[in-house]
Amino acid sequence: MSHATLRIDGDRLWARLEALGEVGAVHGAAGERGCARLALTDADREGRDLVLSWMHDLGLSVVVDAVGNVVGTRAGTNPQAAAVMVGSHIDTVRTGGRFDGNLGVLGGLEVIETLEQHGVATVHPISVAYFTNEEGARFQPDMLGSLVYVGGMAVEAALDVRAADDGARLGDELARIGYAGPTPCPTATAPHAYFELHIEQGPVLEDQGFTIGAVTGVQGISWTEVTVTGQSAHAGTTPMRLRHDPGFVAAAITTGVRAIATAMAGTQVATVGRCEFHPNLVNVVPATVTLTVDLRNTDEGLLQQAEEVFAALCEQLAGEEGVTIARRTLARFQPVEFDESMIGLVESTARALGHTTMRMPSGAGHDAQMLARVCPTGMIFVPSVDGLSHNIAEYTTPADVVAGADVLLQVVLAAAGAHSAAVH
Ligand code: GLV
Ligand code: MN
Ligand code: MN
Repeated sequence: MSHATLRIDGDRLWARLEALGEVGAVHGAAGERGCARLALTDADREGRDLVLSWMHDLGLSVVVDAVGNVVGTRAGTNPQAAAVMVGSHIDTVRTGGRFDGNLGVLGGLEVIETLEQHGVATVHPISVAYFTNEEGARFQPDMLGSLVYVGGMAVEAALDVRAADDGARLGDELARIGYAGPTPCPTATAPHAYFELHIEQGPVLEDQGFTIGAVTGVQGISWTEVTVTGQSAHAGTTPMRLRHDPGFVAAAITTGVRAIATAMAGTQVATVGRCEFHPNLVNVVPATVTLTVDLRNTDEGLLQQAEEVFAALCEQLAGEEGVTIARRTLARFQPVEFDESMIGLVESTARALGHTTMRMPSGAGHDAQMLARVCPTGMIFVPSVDGLSHNIAEYTTPADVVAGADVLLQVVLAAAGAHSAAVH
C-alpha cells in the first residue's frame, strides 16, 4: 500500500514546540515569546531532558555520545541497514526563538509518532538526533556536535573548547549537565541519508510567496575574534593626535566590514555581533577591545576575497592608529552543496503535496552541512514571519510548520523504504 496519503498530526507537533519553548522562555514587552537555552547551560539540560523523555515515550533506543549528541532510533526491518537520520539542535542563542532547530528535532519525533500511530514499518531504521552546540553562541565553532559526529574535529579538542562568556570548558559543562555520554564520537556508521527541517530564518520565502524551500546548500562561514590593544589613557587629558585608541579601531572595523560587504554585493554579508571594551568606562580610552567578525558568502573564492580585504583593513588600521590587532579564527567552513537527488526529492515531494517550492541556498549554518560530508543530505525550509530569527519575535505559522513536517515525513518514507501497514 502507498503511504503517500499519510500525514503528521499538526496539533501534536505544535504542542511539543510550545512545551519545549517554555524551557528557558523569554517574554518580550510586545508579547514576543522566545527562548534562551545557550549550549550546556541548565536551561539546555532541561530542554534535553524533556526531548529525551519524549524519545523514551516513543520507545526509541537512545544513545548519548562523548560530545553530548543524542540520537534516538526506531528499528527498521533490515537489521543491517543504516538509519535514515532526521536531526537538528535544541540549543538557542541568548535571544532565540522557539523554532530554530527545535522544529527539525520535534518534526523528526512527529514523523516517528505518525509511523507508530499508523503501524508503518520501514526497511531502514529512522533516527532523530539533537546535536550539541549548533549555535556557536557560547562555544565556538558553531555546529560543533555534528562536526565531531562526522569526524571533522577530534572529540578531545571539542571538549577543551572554552566558552566565550565565562571561560567554562565544554567538557566540564557537558559532565555538569549529565550529557557526557559513553558512545564514541565520531559515529561508527554513517547514516543512509540525513534530513533537516528548519525555518528559513530570512525573508525570501515569505517575500516571494513560497511555502517550501528546497535547500541547495549552505554558504561558507568565517568567524574571527579580533583583539585590538592600544594605550589606555585619560579621556580628558590625552590629545587626539597622541592616542592609540582600540575603541576607535573597533568602530572602524565595524564600518569597514560593512563597506566590504556593500562593495562586494551578491551574497556577501558581514556582521560585528560582539564587542567588549576594557575597562569599559566613560572617561578612559580603552586598553583593549575584543570584537567578532562574521563573514559569509555562497562562493568560496569570494569569501576568501572578503577575508583578505578584512585582513588588509586590520593591518592598515593598526599602522595608522599605533595599536596591535590580533586575529583568531573561531570557525571556518567552506560552502556546501547538497546532492542534486536530495534537492530534487524535497522539491518533488513538496509539489506532490500541493505546495509551492523554490530552490534556495541557506544563509544560516546547519548541522546538515556537516552531515553532508558523510551521507546524502537534504534540507526543507519553511517561511519565517517577517524573516526574523535569532530574535525572540521569531515565528512560523502552524500551517507552514505542518507543511514542512509533512514533506519531512514523505521524504523520510521515500529514503527509509516503507512497508505495507502492519496489523494494529
Ligand atoms: C548558526 O545558527 C548560524 O548560522 O550562525
Ligand atoms: Mn538552527
Ligand atoms: Mn540559530
